[in-house]
Amino acid sequence: MVSAKDLVAIILLMLWYSTPAYVANGLAVILGKNSRPIDNYKVFIDGRRILGDGKTIGGFIGGTMIGFLAAIIQLPFRSFILSFALETAIREGISTTVICHIPDLIATNSFSAFLLRGFLLSSGAMLGDVIGSFIKRRLGLERGAPCIPLDQLDFIIFALLLASLVTPIPLQYMLIFLAATFVAHIIANFIAYKLGVKDRFP
Ligand code: CTP
Ligand code: MG
Repeated sequence: MVSAKDLVAIILLMLWYSTPAYVANGLAVILGKNSRPIDNYKVFIDGRRILGDGKTIGGFIGGTMIGFLAAIIQLPFRSFILSFALETAIREGISTTVICHIPDLIATNSFSAFLLRGFLLSSGAMLGDVIGSFIKRRLGLERGAPCIPLDQLDFIIFALLLASLVTPIPLQYMLIFLAATFVAHIIANFIAYKLGVKDRFP
């Protein structure tokens, strides 16, 4: 059983771990403005767009680069965050199984592994997003049509799977974080809808 404190610890660890993926996914929206669609307006054998206008070259490459930049910015803070996390975890009585995963999840064992992980997270996020759109188009959904839980999770699933090549993530942590990401997305979209920033929910 995972205690409430362990749950919070796992979500916080995973947030740090997956920051490059979140940054890539979040900024692709801005970086894709006025850029050319990746599928170059081509249609698939089913007569529908391969990916649609929502997946642009600028968004993909820009998102990957900015996500990687986020990993470069995280790099010098690794040791500080690691000692802070270990101290806090011990003080708060986090279970030892979670504590054992902290060094790898926060810092990896080398500078280059951390950067490689950052690149896999940012490019994996952009790839997962593209795969999500490919599936949506095959399901006959127009660009921007809601598709739960693909819209909320496509980017993070692929990012975490690719990054697991560098730092394996325990399955339980992966599932907890996917659930947390899903709920956070739904709440954020609901707030955006209520504030009038988004014209539909979800
Ligand atoms: N975006 C982009 N290039 C990418 C990813 C995202 O330009 N590779 C931009 C697009 O302007 C897109 C917005 O970010 O509309 C939001 O992304 P997303 O919600 O994934 O796209 P949707 O427009 O909802 O399209 P889809 O139905 O294909 O998910
Ligand atoms: Mg969308």
